[in-house]
Amino acid sequence: MRFPYSETVLEHFRHPRNVGKIENPDGKATEGSPACGDMVAVYIKVDPKTNTIADIKFESYGCASNIATGSIITELAKGKTLDEAKNISWKEASEALGGLPKLKVHCSVLAVEGLRSAIQNYEERHGLVKEQKPTTVEVVRQRLKKVINPLTGLNVVRTNLVKDIEIKDGTVRVLVDVPQDHQFAHAIKEDITERIEPLWDVKKLVVEFTE
Ligand code: FES
Repeated sequence: MRFPYSETVLEHFRHPRNVGKIENPDGKATEGSPACGDMVAVYIKVDPKTNTIADIKFESYGCASNIATGSIITELAKGKTLDEAKNISWKEASEALGGLPKLKVHCSVLAVEGLRSAIQNYEERHGLVKEQKPTTVEVVRQRLKKVINPLTGLNVVRTNLVKDIEIKDGTVRVLVDVPQDHQFAHAIKEDITERIEPLWDVKKLVVEFTE
């Protein structure tokens, strides 16, 4: 049987570039894959004069393909403008890796989505989003679909962990069906905050737990 991975994939998997975390990043995102429940976190530093990615790092909690794609897209993105980096596609990443097995396409999509979300996070935090639509319960719900429930590897909406979403005078309240002292309560709150707080018209976010 032919080994499914190219030499380039294996090389990036064994020696991934830009692995780690950036302290005080300008933009960051944790992205979960609906296909497998794995996660990737991407951190960026942006040069505001040139609007380019000055530094980028990633942490993968996924498989070999995800690690290899994270490695290659961070290499491709470094030094690019935000708009150029946003346009890096999983196909481009996969080609740069010499191809990925079909079953592993979602792993490269996850890495690319992580990069795009980190850029979006930067743009939202810096008031650079051109189209400013009002935040509705549906907008919040869609964003929470990106927050993975660590207990199941599925998102917190699909697993019914989000019991209620309320928006009033710029305050978003999210009720999560997890006890306050649960081992994952803090991580879930952080992920929700990362997704909701940067929205342009959100003044305050309150994440409440059951009990
Ligand atoms: Fe989950 Fe590859 S199987 S990222």
